[in-house]
Amino acid sequence: MNVAGVSHFRELAQQHLPNFLFQYIDGGAYQEQTLEANRADLRDMVFRQRALVDVTEMDLSTNLFGMDMSMPVGLGPIGLAGMYRRRGETMAARAAVRAGLPFVLSSLALCDLEEVGAAINAPFWFQLYVVKDRGFVRDLIQRAKDVGCTALFHTVDVPVTAVRWRDIRSGLSAQPSFAGGIKWWWEILTHPSWAWDVGVMGKPHGCGNLTPVMGKNPKLNDYWKWVGQNLDASITWKDYDFIREQWDGPLIIKGIMDPEDARTAASVGIDGVVVTNHGGRQLDGAPSTISMLPRIVEAAGDKLAVTMDGGVRSGGDVLKALACGAKGVFLGRAWAYALAGAGEKGVDLMLAQIRQELASEMAMCGVTSVQDIRAQDVLDPRTLRDIRDV
Ligand SMILES: Cc1cc2nc3c(=O)[nH]c(=O)nc-3n(C[C@H](O)[C@H](O)[C@H](O)COP(=O)(O)O)c2cc1C
Repeated sequence: MNVAGVSHFRELAQQHLPNFLFQYIDGGAYQEQTLEANRADLRDMVFRQRALVDVTEMDLSTNLFGMDMSMPVGLGPIGLAGMYRRRGETMAARAAVRAGLPFVLSSLALCDLEEVGAAINAPFWFQLYVVKDRGFVRDLIQRAKDVGCTALFHTVDVPVTAVRWRDIRSGLSAQPSFAGGIKWWWEILTHPSWAWDVGVMGKPHGCGNLTPVMGKNPKLNDYWKWVGQNLDASITWKDYDFIREQWDGPLIIKGIMDPEDARTAASVGIDGVVVTNHGGRQLDGAPSTISMLPRIVEAAGDKLAVTMDGGVRSGGDVLKALACGAKGVFLGRAWAYALAGAGEKGVDLMLAQIRQELASEMAMCGVTSVQDIRAQDVLDPRTLRDIRDV
């Protein structure tokens, strides 16, 4: 497969998917300022190129939340991935296992916990949205335990849902008009390999984990309505008493962007945080994740394992995040593009390319182990000053 990097997988995804699905993956909230900032701030960072260091032996391995990993990278939760390729979550989970990396299954996946568990027969991690019906949440956590999930990621940056203008323009989240309906079918018919692979062979199209409340094949509008009406906007720090009663393994909050929130997380017994703004899909105008990472690492001290995501598209981006203190980095769109563009083999290749680039960029910065990456060793003084000035 001659695919060169995540931007190439993105092009292939755009060719393979009907427009409304490509825009769903690619887009961000409102004016997409935060979406752009995540990429721009990573791009602006520069490395310190070093010479004449023996880099014959490289060690990328680490351990996060009890899992041995071949490099500090995981596949973060992406909703509806089974709409990009047939049973897409199981494909990505298998690729993660082959690469020795964790896969985080979204609450809003097409493949449910049991389907992924049976497909990989290895531990994976689960992402939770807390909805109003706490009985349903309790059952979902129990199901995650039963299939052997070893870490729980509670997403907190969706107290309410934001609007992505692109989803309205593409017809994904708007009430379909007559003309919109024709456009929709045109998109499906002009992408026959997707239509066959996912539209015909990829059923059921409902979110598997929600089947107890939504049935197997809910209509798209009912799905958006359910998400909008059932996410619990009243949730606060007190609710961790309830979550902790159900789950005593590693508990990670996904959606921390403020040092004060990181300190509070540590005080309520959370094990880790993901510094994330949901890939620019929620609070538009929030800062980039890489710009907030150093301050959150400082606030967390040794009480929390700090990880991050947002705009990571290369091994070099991973190295920049590790240099800013992240213990691990999650890929979002990177794996969604690879899956949509080239299927399971695409995810394998994308991960191999990230690994290769991480190792070679580390070597050229003169570091041989991910445990030894320190900002002052791998980042140029200009970048160091910028991240300290934030
Ligand atoms: C299409 C799409 C669906 C997503 N679905 C979820 C989800 O169900 N749960 C969640 O916690 N985060 C979700 N996210 C956010 C990702 O986990 C991650 O935070 C984000 O994609 C990182 O930014 P990046 O894609 O620029 O790397 C989603 C992101 C995208 C792009």
